[in-house]
Amino acid sequence: MPQARYFELPITEVIKRRSSTRSYNPVQLPDEVLEKLKAYSREIRGPFSGRVRLVFLDVSAFEEQTGKKIGTYGFIRGAQHFIAGIVAKGEKDLEELGYVFEQLILYATSLGLGTCWLGGTFRRKSLQEAVALKKTEMLPAITPVGYAARKEKMLDMGISGILSREKRLTKRPSGPGPSIVGQRKPKRKPWPELFFYQRLGYPLPKNEAGDFQAPLEMVRLAPSASNRQPWRVIKSEDCWHFYLEPSLLTNKVLGFEIQRIDLGIALCHFELTARELGLPGNWIVLTTGLPSLGAEKLQYVASWRLSP
Ligand SMILES: Cc1cc2nc3c(=O)[nH]c(=O)nc-3n(C[C@H](O)[C@H](O)[C@H](O)COP(=O)(O)O)c2cc1C
Repeated sequence: MPQARYFELPITEVIKRRSSTRSYNPVQLPDEVLEKLKAYSREIRGPFSGRVRLVFLDVSAFEEQTGKKIGTYGFIRGAQHFIAGIVAKGEKDLEELGYVFEQLILYATSLGLGTCWLGGTFRRKSLQEAVALKKTEMLPAITPVGYAARKEKMLDMGISGILSREKRLTKRPSGPGPSIVGQRKPKRKPWPELFFYQRLGYPLPKNEAGDFQAPLEMVRLAPSASNRQPWRVIKSEDCWHFYLEPSLLTNKVLGFEIQRIDLGIALCHFELTARELGLPGNWIVLTTGLPSLGAEKLQYVASWRLSP
């Protein structure tokens, strides 16, 4: 868990500062910044056994070598660097990718950089070659990384028209609120729709979450594909159980279960916050003893077991 040595800000602050940046200052990042990101990326370990590769791509080198552009269908402007997230196919692969990649995204945020998860609006084909994707691997997502353009706000709002037409892939933020680059903050679901006690339908009041109020709030603020926020968390005696409420359309359009990435992101936010607060525990995947749900459409992912 490398964040303590690297992050200069509290993780809750970093999570609050992150938001999707789609317009970048078109300049190269200094070598030392890239080196910091690469060094950090080598140390991240996820909760499952999946093998994740994070490959840094320089736009001009990519264009020179392949004669192609890193295509984002016009969603991303100005970015000179991208990071590709690759994972070996297997059990909990997408969750592992979500966890590991989000940790790097948070580190980039802590360095003042902008990022934007892209799981739908990028051209996979030319990238697959550039990262030497193996048959045993998949390339579910990439992110641009760089300094947000000063005109980010206006450009991002321009993009919003396109985004609202592309609702299947990404839902447009709405509602006021500050962020580092001054974009409008996307809405999040309220607590009673996300966090429960013992079973679905019994919302967990914020003031009854005890020490875990902050880790849960950081789950609530997490990014998710099309901002669907599919995470559901149920508290039992000694565990927080994490589930996915799938949106069939979101997953079907892309041909892979992109929302399992969202769950990995949620686990990352929860664990980093819990660890920073000194709340010990670990991830387990239960096969028995899960809460009776009352809603079978949820998919179980993992549980955070409190250490005694
Ligand atoms: C797994 C994943 C895939 C995403 N794919 C895209 C995408 O293809 N294009 C895009 O513009 N935004 C994409 N997003 C960004 C979401 O739309 C964004 O996180 C969400 O609307 C919340 O906004 P925020 O990140 O500013 O908090 C993706 C986010 C996640 C987590």
